[in-house]
Amino acid sequence: MSDDAEYVLGTGDDELQRLALQNRLWSDAAVAAWRRAGLRAGDRVLDVGCGPGHAACDLAQLVMGNGRVIGIDESAGFVAHANAMAERRGLPWLTALGGDVQGLAEMFAHGALAAEAPFDLAYARWVLCFVPDPESVVRGIAAALRPGGRLVVHDYFNYASMTMAPKRDSHDRAVAATVRSWRAHGGDPDVAGRLPALFAAHGLRLDEVRTHVRVARGGDTMFAWPDTWWRTYAPKLVAMGELAQADCDQLLADLEAIQGGAGFVQCPPVYELIATKEER
Ligand SMILES: C[S@@+](CC[C@H](N)C(=O)[O-])C[C@H]1O[C@@H](n2cnc3c(N)ncnc32)[C@H](O)[C@@H]1O
Repeated sequence: MSDDAEYVLGTGDDELQRLALQNRLWSDAAVAAWRRAGLRAGDRVLDVGCGPGHAACDLAQLVMGNGRVIGIDESAGFVAHANAMAERRGLPWLTALGGDVQGLAEMFAHGALAAEAPFDLAYARWVLCFVPDPESVVRGIAAALRPGGRLVVHDYFNYASMTMAPKRDSHDRAVAATVRSWRAHGGDPDVAGRLPALFAAHGLRLDEVRTHVRVARGGDTMFAWPDTWWRTYAPKLVAMGELAQADCDQLLADLEAIQGGAGFVQCPPVYELIATKEER
């Protein structure tokens, strides 16, 4: 487990705060998807790449005390945050554990975690786009689900369609730099497009695909999503040498203009896939 620079978005306090806000803005879509997937009180749920545990806490509140939620994340700091939050909120049936989600199959095949499987539902939000080997994650999830168990994924496809209106060069360059930086770290900002084939290869029947495309004007609560994203990540792109400081400064000024009513941001499309583990 590590908190090192390998994970491209980082695991500092700025990212932790951003993830909390992001969870709040997207929790309506998450809860609706879990409901459609049949989440019930008493279910055993696996949160793959749980981060600081916001969705995992929401899941724990929904499955209640006769359920179980296991979160897995490679960041020691995020795992500690998730466990502290579970304790503070009185959710002892939620446990976050450190580990690489590309090793899920091995984790649940033997050792202490073997007793935690099988799961009724697995949730993977914005993690498959960051791992070099998403197939290993899908394989591990399929192995950890019971036959008939459901998988819900929220992740990106066509990320580069994120744009500002009116169009701004600063924004287009920052989006292109984001895509480059994720790919340079082994990620894929279009990973959702590869998932139907990966599901089929590992005994997961794809039941539903839909997309959530959000448009944010200044003053909308959703505007905080692109706004905090760029305020957190654009300086990191500059530090990585992917974005010029002048473009970063212009981008932040353009965001101010949108905040003041000058236009809107089309956010990156979030794809929702719901699948069922085949009974074999
Ligand atoms: C954008 S955050 C999303 C967190 C959470 N799923 C959510 O929706 O709030 C991506 C998370 O994936 C984790 N992550 C990235 N690569 C990983 C890997 N190979 N194994 C485990 N966790 C990983 C990061 O530490 C981070 O917490």
